[in-house]
Amino acid sequence: MTKREILVTSALPYANGPIHLGHMLEHIQSDIWVRAMRMAGHSVHYVCADDAHGSAIMLRAEKEGIAPKALIDGVWKEHSSALRDFGVAYDHYSSTHTEANRELTARIWQALKAGDHTESRPVKQLYDPVKAMFLPDRYIKGECPKCHSKDQYGDGCEVCGTAYSPADLIEPYSVVSGARPELRESTHFFVKLADFETMLKGWLVQRRDAGGLQAEVVNKLQEWFADGLRSWDVSRDAPYFGFEIPGEPGKFFYVWVDAPVGYLAAFKELCESGRKADLRADDFERFLRADTGTEMVHFIGKDIIYFHTLFWPAMLHGAGLRTPSAVNVHGFLTVNGAKMSKSRGTFIEARTYLNHLDADYLRYYFASQLGPTLADVDLDMKAFEERVNSHLVGKWINIASRTAGFVHRFFGGRLAAQGCFSQKEEDILLHIFKRRSQIAALYEERDFAEVTRQFVLAADYVNSYIADAAPWVLAKDDSKRSELHRVCTFAISAFQLLTVMIKPLVPVIAKKAEDFLGMETSSFFAISDAMYNREIRQFEPIATRIDIDKIEAMIEASKENLQPNAAIAPPSPQPSPAGGRGGNADAAAAESAQSPPLTISIDDFAKMDLRIATVLQCEFVDGSDKLLRFVLDAGELGQRQIFSGIRAAYTEPEKLVGRKVVFIANLAPRKMRFGISEGMILSAGSGGSDLHLLDADAGAKAGMPVK
Ligand code: 2FM
Ligand code: ZN
Repeated sequence: MTKREILVTSALPYANGPIHLGHMLEHIQSDIWVRAMRMAGHSVHYVCADDAHGSAIMLRAEKEGIAPKALIDGVWKEHSSALRDFGVAYDHYSSTHTEANRELTARIWQALKAGDHTESRPVKQLYDPVKAMFLPDRYIKGECPKCHSKDQYGDGCEVCGTAYSPADLIEPYSVVSGARPELRESTHFFVKLADFETMLKGWLVQRRDAGGLQAEVVNKLQEWFADGLRSWDVSRDAPYFGFEIPGEPGKFFYVWVDAPVGYLAAFKELCESGRKADLRADDFERFLRADTGTEMVHFIGKDIIYFHTLFWPAMLHGAGLRTPSAVNVHGFLTVNGAKMSKSRGTFIEARTYLNHLDADYLRYYFASQLGPTLADVDLDMKAFEERVNSHLVGKWINIASRTAGFVHRFFGGRLAAQGCFSQKEEDILLHIFKRRSQIAALYEERDFAEVTRQFVLAADYVNSYIADAAPWVLAKDDSKRSELHRVCTFAISAFQLLTVMIKPLVPVIAKKAEDFLGMETSSFFAISDAMYNREIRQFEPIATRIDIDKIEAMIEASKENLQPNAAIAPPSPQPSPAGGRGGNADAAAAESAQSPPLTISIDDFAKMDLRIATVLQCEFVDGSDKLLRFVLDAGELGQRQIFSGIRAAYTEPEKLVGRKVVFIANLAPRKMRFGISEGMILSAGSGGSDLHLLDADAGAKAGMPVK
């Protein structure tokens, strides 16, 4: 086998929101691949970073009253720890807002300019005269020119599906200030993609034939060539959070320029860190060259294909650098068969998942659904529970749990010596052992679903043999000791082979299994075929069954994340396509909790029944770290129970008894895990511990309307 040198990346998450399970699908997929390629003997460097630039991040920081750098630093901590706690073991997790990235982006830009692959020309774009900034399409809303639905985004109507440009909107307004945008002109910079048409066409076919691009991806891309490639607008005017274009004051690189360069900048930092034994500082320039046999493999979602298979290879090639070896594309995540939904509690943040369930469970489940295609993956909670309980606990862990005890009780914890097995036992072990190359190949092809299928078949084979041999019956008979020893040795040996087979999928559980076995296997090919004469540890539960209550609690907690508190939160836009990540920076902008300053009519306001209430009871809620339970006296409306997410701000709930609050009385009741919530209490602040209940002057009585 030739040892390959591979740089692997996942798409860089935007630094303007938490990592959710839609992101995790990709990070888990790439992490499994990296672990498996290492177990197949290759040298793999695995990097990622936060995608820290763009209008969305600038505006969100402004809204929070902090500098963009402070915002992205805080998000970086959350992102990197959530990924780590999911077992996603990047060698380096960086940010695009680094000096290394600034230099590399500038280097690539200068090379493109020197090769005459850039141009500039005036562009007319909508401008917010109040905010004094050009507006990305997603920051302009108005009436759809086709179906006349109100409040549609500038790039297309969500009601009738028509795509248009922001200038076509009727009564457009800026989502940032509410002002009517004006058409203004400004010089933009472009990369002349047409220069790369021939190169890209060749690259696509060559990569497809080499297995580096899925055929369906290449087919889709070929459609885009039909009308010729237009130049790509790569600049944005100030104010913008990003890198200023060298020599062009007030002009910044569009976030999608320095984002992919961020893959390489993160790798450069890794090379220079000296942290990896198989990497030196000068390896970076070697990886940048097209002729050195190194590989660069990207994992991405299907919403960002053209950035990675047109713009990115064109930029690299135009700058005289290597192009990607593979762009592996996956589908979106759905939950219970539908788009992830905040109100259904299926928009699950990575941290919320980790607060309730083990990372390896989700890793295994995702793997069982992931193949090398662009098909969407569904997280069906019932199937998730059943698969983990049946495959991991029932079929795999059980092999060890029901035999290890006998090894300790009767044989001092030591397995039998070589030559003990019956022909049937030899055959079964050999059957699994011989699957090593096939399993390694399945991992390489990203057919993880087939790996889990092979694993289950093998485990079933072993379990049915154990059921027939019935060690628990043999244990009752003193004359069957050596038979018992043999069967248990067989079972533990099979357990070890199965562990190696799925080690990349479930690293934490596999590590516990290996601790129990007293041996660690770092290669698919370094396994011995049996555990003769080895000593094993006492069996302690390596993994336990998922309790359905935990899944329910996670869903509830995801609803709680939504139900902030009380502060009137801006309307929260739905996650982008099918719960996947945003397809581009502008779409992501819409995800960044911008609060459109929509004007409402007095009639709209009148729909809200705001009332004064007196707090009768206020207490912590068992099983929730966010909620307080209130019982309110709402005068003529009677008593109301309301769960409010303000626990972090009010640590002594009993002190709230007796005070007045303002609440929304006609909000649809919400069934929560802890009971029904009948309204929402208002408070001011940004969330977390920064929340402050509203009060009313002495004359205000419980039940009085607030107008
Ligand atoms: O779509 C996204 O979430 C982008 N932040 C991905 C960037 S990937 C790369 F090009 F950096
Ligand atoms: Zn429409």
